Order: sequence, then structure tokens, then C-alpha cells
Amino acid sequence: MENLLYIHIPFCDSKCNYCAFNSYTNLNHLKKEYFKAIKNQFLNDIEKFDIKNFETVFIGGGTPSTMSVSFYEKLFELLDPFLKDTKEITIESNPNASFNWLKNIKNLGVNRISFGVQSFDDEKLKFLNRNHSSKTAINTIKNAKKAGFENINLDIIYATAMDNYTLLQNDLKTIDFLPITHISAYSLMIEKNTKWEEDFSKRKEDEELEIWFIEEIKKKFNQYEISNFGNPCIHNLGYWKHKEYLGIGAGAVGFIKNFRYYTKKNVYEYIKNPTKYEYEYLSDEDIKKEKILLGLRSKAGFNENILNENELKRAQILIKEQKLYKKENKIHSYDFLLADALSAYIID
Ligand SMILES: C[S@@+](CC[C@H](N)C(=O)[O-])C[C@H]1O[C@@H](n2cnc3c(N)ncnc32)[C@H](O)[C@@H]1O
Ligand code: SF4
Repeated sequence: MENLLYIHIPFCDSKCNYCAFNSYTNLNHLKKEYFKAIKNQFLNDIEKFDIKNFETVFIGGGTPSTMSVSFYEKLFELLDPFLKDTKEITIESNPNASFNWLKNIKNLGVNRISFGVQSFDDEKLKFLNRNHSSKTAINTIKNAKKAGFENINLDIIYATAMDNYTLLQNDLKTIDFLPITHISAYSLMIEKNTKWEEDFSKRKEDEELEIWFIEEIKKKFNQYEISNFGNPCIHNLGYWKHKEYLGIGAGAVGFIKNFRYYTKKNVYEYIKNPTKYEYEYLSDEDIKKEKILLGLRSKAGFNENILNENELKRAQILIKEQKLYKKENKIHSYDFLLADALSAYIID
């Protein structure tokens, strides 16, 4: 069985105006305790779920680059016995990590890095309340390549009030010269519990601009999911193929057999009780629906043998209408943006 491992780091150096992730700027004093807690949870989970190896690892956040190299040395001591056949280890980082940090992390076996760049426009970075400049980001990305990273992602946010053709075109020009293999481009979402909660003036509703931007990215990077382009992230493809995963850390989510489990979101509570989960049962029918929806939102597709007779008939209609196509028993969508409507049409 191929399992995925997600580890959550809930610390950040500053809080971005749009961000509702489980991340904090005032809990740095908990970092030591946090390691002990994730160690406990990890040892508990691998025994409980009888896991021998991970196909992929994703260290996300928050901001994993706020943790020292010695934190990761200890972490990889713990993980190494389970990484014999691991294909991909990703870490998220702010684009202001030092060359030494990057080099050391690479040497520990991390082979994919994802930078939360958002934009290369300094005014837009200030508007988002990012704590890095465009120049620092460019340097850090080049340093990641020098440190040996071959797989480099940039997160970009678009559809903000500051966006226009010139700004986004300049970002694309900068990206062109950088040694990256992947882009995650997210349309700004106005989220609850953020500085911008309910403030829709921070978003720009300009569908033409959004479509143009995505089409420009697609000229250089192959789109394999609504927001993802380039050399596919094996870990995320694993989620979309509905593989099982462990979720380690405060507010992490895991999925094993027919259960999704949620750890304590509050970091203090998590540290006290790292193995106290809330469980959500998913029926086989729920899992089928998710497989169809996630499969159609990305290149992952889904296996036709999960469909019942009626569903298969409707999928065949969509294949005839050239909305879907079949390849080696898997059904795929031509247009990921239609995934919601297409899956609603197929499912009983
Ligand atoms: C955990 S962060 C990435 C690592 C690191 N914390 C950083 O920001 O540099 C995940 C990504 O989600 C995206 N994101 C977060 N909140 C968002 C929102 N409200 N709308 C659109 N994208 C968002 C950002 O692009 C961000 O880089
Ligand atoms: S976007 Fe990243 S750096 Fe900004 S607050 Fe969210 S997790 Fe932290």
C-alpha cells in the first residue's frame, strides 16, 4: 500500500492579509514542544496503521522555513526508516530562506521546494503583507537551484485588486528567467478569520484578465489541475487519486481506510494531546463521489469500474459529447473547471 505523509508546521514570521491557514506568529516559544508532539503522533500513527514506507512526504504550513536545520535533522532521523522507496519529499518555504538552510535541507533528502512568492511586484507584496521583497525572492529561488533543487515551485496569487495586465505580464517575464519547474496559481479567495474577511474590495473580478493569465502560464507549463502547472507534484496527485495519507501536526488531516481524522487545531491543545483525533466516517458512496470530483479536477482521472450502470451510461454520453475522454480504463476531463458540473451529472 502506498501511503502519503503530510506534516504541518503552524509557525509563520508574519501573517498575510488573505491567509486563513492554521498558522501563528506568536507561538515560537512552542517549537521545541511541538517537535516532541509530532514525534509522539508519528510513532503512534505508523504503529496504529501499520505503515512501513511512504510514497511521498509533504512538509507544509504555515511556514516550514521558520524551523531550524536542527529541527529537520531530528525529524529526518525519525522519518528515515520509512523513506526507503520515497519518490518525492516537498517542503514549503518563504522565499527568504538562507542559502545554508536550503543546502542543509536538500542534503537531508528533501528534493522538491515550494516558495510562497505570490508576486514579484513589491507594491503588491506589501498589499498582501508579505515579509519579503521581489529581489530577495529572486535570489532565494536562484540559491535553491544552486543548493541542488531540481524541482522548484512558485505559489502565485492573482485576481487581487492590484492586478492588471502590466503587473501580471511583468511577473511572467520574471518567472521566465527563473529555474523553476512548477507554478501553483491561486485566484485570491476572501476568507473568514483573516484581515480581509468580508472585504471583497481586495479582489478584482475580471474574468478576462484571469483567463488571459492562466493561458499565458499554460504556454510554458502544462496544466494538470485547476491551479497547478508544470512537472506534477506526486504528493498532490496522490490526494487527487484518493490515496491514503497520514496527517501529522496541529490541524492536520489524515485519511485511512474509510476514515478522515482531524488532529487538534489549537497548537497548545495539540501539544497536550497529539493523538486525540476527531473522526469522520466516509461511506463507499462518499468516497466514490470524491474520487470522481477530484479525478475530474486534475489529470488524475478516475477508474471507470467505480461507476454503476447508470453512471457509466451518463459518463459515456459525456465522452460522446467530447467533455470527457477515456484512456486505459480511466476517465478524464478535458476542462478541469467543469469538474463540478460534470461529476454532478454523472453521479446518481
Ligand atoms: C502555506 S502557504 C505556502 C508557504 C508559506 N507559508 C508562504 O506563504 O510562503 C500556501 C499557499 O496558499 C496560497 N493561499 C493562501 N491563502 C490564500 C487565499 N486566501 N487565496 C488564494 N491563495 C491563498 C498562497 O499562495 C500560499 O503560498
Ligand atoms: S500565506 Fe504562508 S506566510 Fe502567509 S500567513 Fe499564510 S502560511 Fe503564513
